[in-house]
Amino acid sequence: MRHLFDIVDLSVEEIDELISVAEDIIENPDKYANACNRKKLATLFFEPSTRTRLSFEAAMLELGGSILGFSSADSSSAAKGESVTDTVRTVGCYADIIAMRHPKEGAPVAAARRTTVPIINAGDGGHNHPTQTLADLLTIHREKGRTDNLTVGFCGDLKFGRTVHSLVNALSRYSGIKFVFVSPDELKIPDYIKEGVLKQGNIPYTEENRLEGVIDKLDILYMTRVQRERFFNEADYIRLRDCYILDNKKLEKANSDLIVMHPLPRVNEIAVEVDDDPRACYFKQVLNGKYIRMALILKLLGVKV
Ligand code: CP
Repeated sequence: MRHLFDIVDLSVEEIDELISVAEDIIENPDKYANACNRKKLATLFFEPSTRTRLSFEAAMLELGGSILGFSSADSSSAAKGESVTDTVRTVGCYADIIAMRHPKEGAPVAAARRTTVPIINAGDGGHNHPTQTLADLLTIHREKGRTDNLTVGFCGDLKFGRTVHSLVNALSRYSGIKFVFVSPDELKIPDYIKEGVLKQGNIPYTEENRLEGVIDKLDILYMTRVQRERFFNEADYIRLRDCYILDNKKLEKANSDLIVMHPLPRVNEIAVEVDDDPRACYFKQVLNGKYIRMALILKLLGVKV
């Protein structure tokens, strides 16, 4: 039985295979319409979500399976003090596979200790979000035609942004990748990523404060939200929340084949006017998220089509 806690649980070959299956699903949806007949997916979301939970559910429904679950801790027995491990063990009696989101880093790993079904980490605190990374990689592959030899800029909250940590980890395993990290000093990429991933892999990177100075060097610009829910201090959040706002004026300097990505939800960091720019890819990421989760469900359930 395989779980997915972290993007590095998958080899590069397995990621490439998931991308290839997702692209086949996009081309031939009917082939997969009954692949998960009589299988059930449970979505256990102890934290809010729109895209991840609904795309998992849409993915299972489009594979011919069924869904169950809850969308907040308050509507489950977690509100009565039940442990995550007991909740997941219980749900494993009803479902064949579980996607869970939890505010505590490492919660899916703890939950998986006593389960008999595959667990997918759908976001654990500020740590990891591997299925967003798969959606991002599918988007990069479809938009750029490759996942190597790219200069990738990350902008905004690089400290708490779990999607950033997962994607840096994943892209670092492809050749010819350079990173440009744009953030205020308080929200810099964590040292454990710099030491454990970038320096160890000899991956070139720079750290900047201003987006305007580097936007013309990028193949990909990955914007992120400053996450109010991760701050201890509201004053710090208010001071930092609007530090980078991407608008049409800033994009004037960028390459014509740049792609602008964002895991969403956005607040102010991308002006709505940018949505009409052909370089804006964040709603393509949303759709790609459903297809790659279909491919992942098939893999973890061992369903061959
Ligand atoms: N990208 C993402 O995780 O969005 P949700 O929080 O809406 O699931």
